[in-house]
Amino acid sequence: MTTRLSTKPKKRMVIGISGASGAALAVDLLQCLREHPEWESHLVVSNSAEITLRLETSEELNHVMELASHCHSIKNIGACIASGTFKTEGMIVVPCSMKTLSGIATGYSDNLLLRAADVTIKERRPLVLVVRESPLSTIHLRNMLTLSELGATIMPPMITHYNKPMNMADLTRHITGKILDKFGIEVRGFRRWCADEVQ
Ligand SMILES: Cc1cc2nc3c(=O)[nH]c(=O)nc-3n(C[C@H](O)[C@H](O)[C@H](O)COP(=O)(O)O)c2cc1C
Repeated sequence: MTTRLSTKPKKRMVIGISGASGAALAVDLLQCLREHPEWESHLVVSNSAEITLRLETSEELNHVMELASHCHSIKNIGACIASGTFKTEGMIVVPCSMKTLSGIATGYSDNLLLRAADVTIKERRPLVLVVRESPLSTIHLRNMLTLSELGATIMPPMITHYNKPMNMADLTRHITGKILDKFGIEVRGFRRWCADEVQ
């Protein structure tokens, strides 16, 4: 008698890193996702994000790419994540620049990150945009409203005080927790609010 081992297919998440400030958020999110072996990450990094990663973090691009299960070139418009037939649970753009926000809002899919987001919207899958700019212009706000009305979650990486962060790592981890919570993924160190626990 032969026993057939059935391996459960992994859940897939598309992660786009664009060139807004906050590249460290993407690194933390990828690290947290690695702690969940039932998930498979598909990463695409914009050209500008390569610059912000270098300017804002001490991370090598290669190391960041190694955190993902699969990496796709921003130029590879024929990658699996460019098609709706490739099943995913959704997409996160972290951080999301105003340029990438604009491309997604208008369906101007001239790179793989934008195409993958366009696919996520057309397939009506969850799309979380960790938009970062300050102050926000009316153009930025209009683009956010357009995408919110289409069902995307607009989640600026706002600092929180109620979780009593001690440092940048705490602040970053709280934002990662909020993002991954949208996909039912628990994050180590993420403190949910519970007024009863406040001394
Ligand atoms: C250090 C640095 C920080 C930046 N921060 C932001 C930002 O917070 N928000 C934003 O929209 N653009 C920011 N930019 C500008 C974007 O990188 C630029 O608009 C770029 O064209 C975005 O391209 P992408 O969306 O394809 O990644 C920043 C650029 C640099 C170099």
